[in-house]
Amino acid sequence: MTYCINPHCPKPVDAVNANNLICRNCGSEILLQGRYRVLKQLGQGGFGNTFEVDECGKTKVLKVLTENNPKAIELFQQEAKVLSQLNGAGIPKVEPDGYFTVLPKNSSVPLHCLAMEKIEGVNLEQWMEFRNYQRLSEAQALNWLKQLVEILALVHAHQYFHRDIKPQNIMLRQNGQLVLIDFGAVRQVTTTILAGNSHTRIISQGYSPPEQQNGYSVQQSDFFALGRTFIFLLTGKEPQDKEIYDPLTNELHWRKSALNLSALLADLIDHLMAPTANHRPQNTQVILQKLNEIEKALQMPRILWQQTAIQSTNGFKSVASSSSVATVSVGGAKSVNASSSQTHKSQKLSQVLIGLGLGCFAVVIAAINQPNTKNPVSVSPVENVPVAIPSPVTQIPEIPLTTNSQPTISPST
Ligand SMILES: Nc1ncnc2c1ncn2[C@@H]1O[C@H](COP(=O)(O)OP(=O)(O)O)[C@@H](O)[C@H]1O
Ligand SMILES: [Mg+2]
Repeated sequence: MTYCINPHCPKPVDAVNANNLICRNCGSEILLQGRYRVLKQLGQGGFGNTFEVDECGKTKVLKVLTENNPKAIELFQQEAKVLSQLNGAGIPKVEPDGYFTVLPKNSSVPLHCLAMEKIEGVNLEQWMEFRNYQRLSEAQALNWLKQLVEILALVHAHQYFHRDIKPQNIMLRQNGQLVLIDFGAVRQVTTTILAGNSHTRIISQGYSPPEQQNGYSVQQSDFFALGRTFIFLLTGKEPQDKEIYDPLTNELHWRKSALNLSALLADLIDHLMAPTANHRPQNTQVILQKLNEIEKALQMPRILWQQTAIQSTNGFKSVASSSSVATVSVGGAKSVNASSSQTHKSQKLSQVLIGLGLGCFAVVIAAINQPNTKNPVSVSPVENVPVAIPSPVTQIPEIPLTTNSQPTISPST
């Protein structure tokens, strides 16, 4: 299929144009710049249209600006400049000559065009739709959050901020790499902005932070939108969905709708979305550091990181931690970087756990030797360590660890 991008073409989609250089319906150039043949439309946004194009056998994406006011043109040219400057797998590649203009037949208004690498994959809104809004697991959320913060680190290091992070503007490559797209709202951090002058408003409902709705944005505005993006991914609900958003208090009660999320990650996401920019993480390095800490903590038995999460004092109430029940896989403990008092508590706890584990193990061995035992016991194929499976019949002993949490160890014997 060949597509004519002249907005006044009477028949933009016309198969007979397939090998033409000029559109037979309006007389406009159809092989743009002598090398791009527009194949089909991918999207239609507020400021422009997105197409798939062929460049000498290579598939690319072409964005065409439909607005013609100077501000829109400036932002579009900015997108071209930023994308050609930033280099990384998480950002679509734009060649230095990727930006050009086309003048349709009998028109004095040029069309601004930007050719870029085509990301083979779907955007995260489409991805969620395809999986019927099934919520993201914690492990995948950690991986994706890290990828996106690393991409933002690159953008921010060049003194830009994206200003329009949301699921439709993030794509997933087939190899699992996320790509941030749509730099049409990107803004350079200039002294005027730092001095606090307001600038163009770009708002995506539910994703843009309060300061952006008031006409201001800073690099921390991207963190807010990133947090909101994870609310969507972790709950399967848009941030303004009444099931999680209370318009009376302007609060999001999202944790109850997420799947088995640790309080550590939930707290970080709330931190990203703090109502005022000065209460969000200062920069991408701070977030990456926190993500590393969370990853390490989550390698502990679940019972330990829950305690660590409850002890964390970043000022955000943890809904998730109070409601979940700990399960323990005996023998999975790994060393953790923690404060000395935490380490001491952890060591004591580990001793208790090891003791219990050995106790369980002894009972398991005894149970194996008993004929007709009703309680199931499985052996972990990886570590060859017995794993206790909760029995609906057996009374579960409770071990209180903190005043806030009531974790239970549920051995099967
Ligand atoms: N480089 C690209 N590769 C593949 N698909 C893209 C690319 N850029 C945009 N798209 C698709 O087109 C849609 C619209 O593009 P986008 O740049 O977000 O423009 P806008 O939101 O202003 O219409 C995206 O959500 C995505 O699905
Ligand atoms: Mg977009």
